[in-house]
Amino acid sequence: MATVTFSSPILPKDISVYAVAGDRGTLLALARKNDIPIPCQCQDGQCGSCLVKITALDPNGPKAQALTEHEKITLSVNGKLSKEILAKAEVEDIPPPYRLACQVWVPDANILVEFSGEPGVE
Ligand code: FES
Repeated sequence: MATVTFSSPILPKDISVYAVAGDRGTLLALARKNDIPIPCQCQDGQCGSCLVKITALDPNGPKAQALTEHEKITLSVNGKLSKEILAKAEVEDIPPPYRLACQVWVPDANILVEFSGEPGVE
């Protein structure tokens, strides 16, 4: 079981939810299921409104998950994914700090998910 803690200035306090094995979808789906208002528009990795910062809370944190082509382009255009960070994700399995909540799956690890509440703003 993984604990996902959502943190944002628009939340009265941090909210931790549990993601059970076999019941995992995207971070955006988990947020919506728990009434956590991460902005979203396209849900296809193209608008960038669901930008989040993900921090591992365990020393052995989550492995990098493959980024979709839409996500690579959107994060690169927004200045959140450099070629170096992408190479580390793809070659060294080091997760990039910024992801799109509609494109990343809930990992089997405890993480902190930060978002501003404004579309596309960290
Ligand atoms: Fe548009 Fe996630 S909702 S990129």
